[in-house]
Amino acid sequence: MSPNLGSAQQQHWQAAYQDHPHMYGDMPSEPARYAAELFRARGARSVLELGAGHGRDAMHFARAGFTVHATDFSPVGLQQLAQDAEREGLAERVTTAVHDAREPLPLADGSVDAVFAHMLLCMALSTADIRALVGEIARVLRPGGTLVYTVRHTGDAHWGAGISHGDDIYEHGGFAVHFFDRALVDDLATGWRLDEVHAFEEGELPRRLWRVTQTRPSSPQ
Ligand SMILES: C[S@@+](CC[C@H](N)C(=O)[O-])C[C@H]1O[C@@H](n2cnc3c(N)ncnc32)[C@H](O)[C@@H]1O
Repeated sequence: MSPNLGSAQQQHWQAAYQDHPHMYGDMPSEPARYAAELFRARGARSVLELGAGHGRDAMHFARAGFTVHATDFSPVGLQQLAQDAEREGLAERVTTAVHDAREPLPLADGSVDAVFAHMLLCMALSTADIRALVGEIARVLRPGGTLVYTVRHTGDAHWGAGISHGDDIYEHGGFAVHFFDRALVDDLATGWRLDEVHAFEEGELPRRLWRVTQTRPSSPQ
């Protein structure tokens, strides 16, 4: 993967949110509905959302009573979220930070109850970047905390098509996606409890995804 791909992707996402505000709509995704129920059942109060975009899911977590720290490398997307939170009187529960997932998370060890990332781990990140990010998630989650993430996988119609950037990353219409195989999911669960890998579809293509739920053990495994 070329080192320039990341910054090209950042510009592409910035333009996408600029040209198509609220491009994913205002309704929460199915994985966010699932995660909110699960996080509540597990007694979580704080959620870190990675790759939050314009915040359709962060708003869902805030409406459900969680405090949400939403990050993305697109300031334009996060600005749309901040405006929505302000308009709905939820600004106290929603904070945003521009953050590139290839960098360490700017949060203290064990400081969040739950982490949610819908279609972020499958962006233009190398396998090494993804492993480092999941290590960072484990660091900032409290022991017993939950991670729910979704990724497009190698059963998706766009896998193997478009421009290849290596490392199972393919670019279509300017958007680069790292398609996951099951071995990568299992590898990322090393040292965690893997609760579930659930296959689902989203959108018109449709995108074929896995929703992965894993728990940070209370004591080392
Ligand atoms: C497929 S979109 C999903 C957005 C949001 N989770 C949703 O479902 O509405 C992926 C998001 O990841 C962000 N993103 C991609 N690469 C990133 C990176 N390296 N660091 C932080 N955010 C990134 C994009 O800006 C975009 O908002």
